[in-house]
Amino acid sequence: MALSIRTLHENFAAEIGGVDITREVDDETFRAIRNAFDEYSVLVFHDQPFDDESQVAFSRRFGDLEPVARNRVGGGGGTSVADISNVDPATDTILPVDGEVMTYRSGNELWHTDSSFKAIPAMASMLSGREVPPQGGETEFASMRTAYARLDPDRQAALEDLIAVHDYTYSRGLVGSKLSQGPQQEMPPVQQVLVRTNPANGRKNYFTASHASHIVGWPEEKGRAYMEDLVARATAPEDVYTHEWRQHDLVIWDNRCVLHRGRSWEKTRYRRIMRRTTVAGDGPT
Ligand code: OGA
Ligand code: MN
Repeated sequence: MALSIRTLHENFAAEIGGVDITREVDDETFRAIRNAFDEYSVLVFHDQPFDDESQVAFSRRFGDLEPVARNRVGGGGGTSVADISNVDPATDTILPVDGEVMTYRSGNELWHTDSSFKAIPAMASMLSGREVPPQGGETEFASMRTAYARLDPDRQAALEDLIAVHDYTYSRGLVGSKLSQGPQQEMPPVQQVLVRTNPANGRKNYFTASHASHIVGWPEEKGRAYMEDLVARATAPEDVYTHEWRQHDLVIWDNRCVLHRGRSWEKTRYRRIMRRTTVAGDGPT
């Protein structure tokens, strides 16, 4: 099968064509996809009408999947498929914008990397557009690898030994969402290094996100401002790839080195139904 690769942004992100990933993919094709993932960090596939089962099967090729937290706001606990939508599956109607579920999900509109608040942060996420709004609801991506490469060597060296605390209770608090007692107990703050290296190609990046509350050994406000500056450097408009969704797109991103955020849309008017599978990382950072 002839895989095509078309870059979407000067520095990262590529569209992959010529393959149906809803069916079993042969090993050679999978290796090419895996290599493209390490190279481009964000991969876009069009016309992939996944259901949960086929999405899980393809995702599993990358590694073990993270289970959805048992007490996750909005349900799905215990499965491998997270519901990222504004429609209540029980009633098939649009969820209230200021209700608990949509407030919780609005945390996705802050720049973040998935599961950095877990001791072993996620490797990859795969988001499937099952029903997408006619406008708005884009997903934006920014490369912390490119941003790291632009830092001068002294600044890069200064980052090397820093450790950040990532705290889910902190980041959900930023959007006014309170975690219920269960998830809070499941998710105490964790520590992550600030510089990561891709094991396949040796390329380095910094690693921070809206979940990062402070830097170990620094006054809280100083660490927070320092990391906000790193996020700002990575997310300048010209460095962002904006994905405008078509129905049946699948987008895969590398949580080890890219930031992402969802953009808002007319949530009371348009349905947006997305499903996410998350490939677990292979160890603490
Ligand atoms: C996610 C996420 C953003 C979006 O699924 O992890 O952050 O655009 N989604 O839905
Ligand atoms: Mn996310």
